[in-house]
Amino acid sequence: MPDLTIRPARPTDAPVLAALDILAGGGVYEFIYDDRPGEPGAAQLMLHAVLAADTALSWSRALIAELDGEPVGAITSQPYDDQPPSGLETSVPEDRAAHVAPIQAMGRPGSWFINMLAVGAGGSGHGVGRALIETVADKARAAGFSELTLRVFADNAPALGLYRKCGFREVDAVDIPPLPRLPHEGGVRLLLRDL
Ligand SMILES: CC(C)(COP(=O)(O)OP(=O)(O)OC[C@H]1O[C@@H](n2cnc3c(N)ncnc32)[C@H](O)[C@@H]1OP(=O)(O)O)[C@@H](O)C(=O)NCCC(=O)NCCS
Repeated sequence: MPDLTIRPARPTDAPVLAALDILAGGGVYEFIYDDRPGEPGAAQLMLHAVLAADTALSWSRALIAELDGEPVGAITSQPYDDQPPSGLETSVPEDRAAHVAPIQAMGRPGSWFINMLAVGAGGSGHGVGRALIETVADKARAAGFSELTLRVFADNAPALGLYRKCGFREVDAVDIPPLPRLPHEGGVRLLLRDL
């Protein structure tokens, strides 16, 4: 069995973390930010947001999971009611912003919120995702929170399998019609776990 450790992220993790953020987004960041002539794309914007000290996706809010010393996964979280700017603020086509607005509006006041969770292909199936969630659950409980929440695309079977195993249940959902540039079926769900 590979040796699994979880540690706070460091600024030098930013490239790995930004790639994991993009993976966790399931195509939503590429949908919003790519293909804007003359403007930075999702990967570049994400790296900038992760490198900043005070954004929701900042390295400073992330935990990194390592297998045998190699970073393979990450999780970023904070109180839902205390979310700083994403760090991705820039002008985007109106129709794209309108398409994802219902996702961004769905949340649970008073909960501890997982902004992102991802494990790269090389690290999956070793209990890394579950360990990252349990570490954040302990942290949220210690901070006095009684609910842990996150959003997930309804067609993300691996993530839904993990979240069910970790005790999450569905508390809300939005229907997001599939588009050629964001072809998810079934919309997005808000999941909650009691702590
Ligand atoms: C979803 C994800 C985080 C799972 O991470 P992981 O480290 O491979 O998961 P774990 O090894 O901790 O698995 C824990 C449980 O999750 C479930 N699970 C994991 N992968 C699964 C899969 N492909 N299909 C169904 N269930 C799965 C299983 O129930 C597993 O328990 P078991 O090992 O006892 O069977 C990872 O696949 C990932 O990062 N995917 C891409 C990004 C993403 O979708 N992030 C979530 C966005 S909301």
